[in-house]
Amino acid sequence: MSPNKLNDLDSKRWLKFQKSWFIHNPPPRKKGVLVHPAKFPETLAQEFIEFFTKQGETVLDPMAGTGSTLVAALRAGRNSYGIELNPKYAEIAKQIVEEERNILGENVESLASKVIQGDAAKAADLGLSTFNYVLTSPPYWDMLHAKGAKTQKKRRDSAELDVHYSDDPNDLGNISDYEAFLEKLVNIYKGLKPVLCEKAYLTIIVKNVKKGGKLFPLAWDIARELGKTYTLKDERVWCLPPGQQIWTQSGLKPIEQIKTGEKALTHLGTLEAVTKTMQRYHTGQLVTIKPALLGKTISLTPEHEILTIERKKFVHKNGEPFRENFKLSERRGMTWKPAKELKVGDAIAFPIPETIIDLIELDISTYMPEVIDWLQDEKWYYTRGRGKWGRGKLPKCISINYEFMRFAGWYLSEGSGTVSGVYIANTSIEAQNEIDHLFRSIFDANTKTDGKGVWCRSRSIAKLMLTLFGKGAYHKKIPDFMLHLPHEKQKHLLQSLWSGDGHASQKSVLYKTTSENLALAILYLTARIGAIPYIHRNPKWFNLSYRGQSMNKMLKLLGVASLQKENIRDQHWVRDHLVWLPIREKEIIDYSGPVYNLEVECANTFVTEGFIVHNCQDNQRLAPFGLGSAWVSNTFHHYCLQFRNE
Ligand SMILES: C[S@@+](CC[C@H](N)C(=O)[O-])C[C@H]1O[C@@H](n2cnc3c(N)ncnc32)[C@H](O)[C@@H]1O
Repeated sequence: MSPNKLNDLDSKRWLKFQKSWFIHNPPPRKKGVLVHPAKFPETLAQEFIEFFTKQGETVLDPMAGTGSTLVAALRAGRNSYGIELNPKYAEIAKQIVEEERNILGENVESLASKVIQGDAAKAADLGLSTFNYVLTSPPYWDMLHAKGAKTQKKRRDSAELDVHYSDDPNDLGNISDYEAFLEKLVNIYKGLKPVLCEKAYLTIIVKNVKKGGKLFPLAWDIARELGKTYTLKDERVWCLPPGQQIWTQSGLKPIEQIKTGEKALTHLGTLEAVTKTMQRYHTGQLVTIKPALLGKTISLTPEHEILTIERKKFVHKNGEPFRENFKLSERRGMTWKPAKELKVGDAIAFPIPETIIDLIELDISTYMPEVIDWLQDEKWYYTRGRGKWGRGKLPKCISINYEFMRFAGWYLSEGSGTVSGVYIANTSIEAQNEIDHLFRSIFDANTKTDGKGVWCRSRSIAKLMLTLFGKGAYHKKIPDFMLHLPHEKQKHLLQSLWSGDGHASQKSVLYKTTSENLALAILYLTARIGAIPYIHRNPKWFNLSYRGQSMNKMLKLLGVASLQKENIRDQHWVRDHLVWLPIREKEIIDYSGPVYNLEVECANTFVTEGFIVHNCQDNQRLAPFGLGSAWVSNTFHHYCLQFRNE
């Protein structure tokens, strides 16, 4: 990667920065700079400067405070200029920069580092040279005057530290009207354009603020407004390692196989287009999280954000720890949290799939293209007699109705396709009669029973079954299109599936299968009614067991009367269109290898095998969404907004 156009980093340090610039652990601050109420660590500033510039280039901080950017620039061997309105800070900054120059000695003799006391709004009139990079952090509106700052004020009063920047009317921190503040701030950054080199980056460290119980999305507003002058770049990427399965329109798919344009399930339960796929190399840690019930561990990078409801932990008198009642937790609302901050017991969410894509008729040539070469009339494809396919016929289109959904359920639970045809094993005469009827009505095919089940000696039907429902018991699957059919249709499939291999009584609702694909597709279908099974996995079997409220919902769906009186505690909670599951296990592991991420239209989320994650750092698009849905509070992070002058 070296030499490159942007910086002097070798590939190892390039990767390290990309992986870690938002997980910064600064060393303790020097005493003198504590006077300033909101400075950022020089070490963080240095990482940015080294990433966005080369040695000898020039950096500007238009709101320099006590000069962290200039100190960092000196250490990185870059020229720097800082503008600071408050004379007191400007003076401190000059002293600190001077001290740093003395420490670094002749190494930095040729470098300029100049603090200018003045108004950043006039930066372009100061006769400065052009800059290769801007690194800055503005006042977060007039928050230092706000009520919420009282505790901070008390602390700082007692230590004789500043509680706000200045009384100067040009000081952005003194503008009480939010819109006026935003306009002035954005205009300051826009005003830098004439002194910025082409393709120079600007990094603005900022966060959203809350005042009087109201959220002011400062970071998002800056992103939107300034995005009209500079290009907003999404630099912060969170990721999942390969093999992690994501819910898509075609069922579960490993993240590395997902392509732009495919549709992914989102936290809204809708399917939305993947607009971008990303891959990078990650050396460091991964967080593994196992939610209750699903029995599956999902890995992701520590910063990847997960939709969560935090649940407080208490300790009984007897020393036993316990989690607070979910009703209390949910009052605090849901929030996005980096995986590394989640704790065992916190709740994470699985969406109830909402998108419905009905299919009236299935054109079988989309699944078996070879039929095009067969003999045909208006309604049927015919095999040519003897040979590979024997004698037989297939309907050109199959109605996706009650009968076909019932048939699919029987086949999935007890059917097999072989060279001699299709066999559905069931000893019940009633079931045999229904299966016989379905073969005749859907395929116009003859059947025979051998006492233990029903035979249909048609190779072509067998081939269609294998294509639609998978080859062999281990690979049985529910075809993609069935995942999104109206619930009424899916219900017929689940009913015959349960009649075949399931068990439903007033004590338990169970389903056992050797196919993981089938087990997870059943989870997907039953999640539609808020019924989530406990999935017990052993090397050969997947046992789905519905308990508590989920069991009642399943009994209703399967048409079995429920006598359940006792109040069985659920291991999950259903709220609106989300199913909340507590985290059972969390671990940190080392990992070195590729990691992947997706950008998903509208919702900016996607869903792993067990829970919802945020797609990537894309504040501009997140903003309207976050505001429209008050419960999504991706609010109080510090954002490092990256813009480019292009
Ligand atoms: C968040 S602080 C910057 C802290 C700085 N990055 C540091 O680490 O020391 C914002 C600074 O902007 C300054 N400021 C406010 N309005 C200004 C203006 N119009 N022109 C220049 N500086 C201004 C404030 O005095 C304050 O020191």
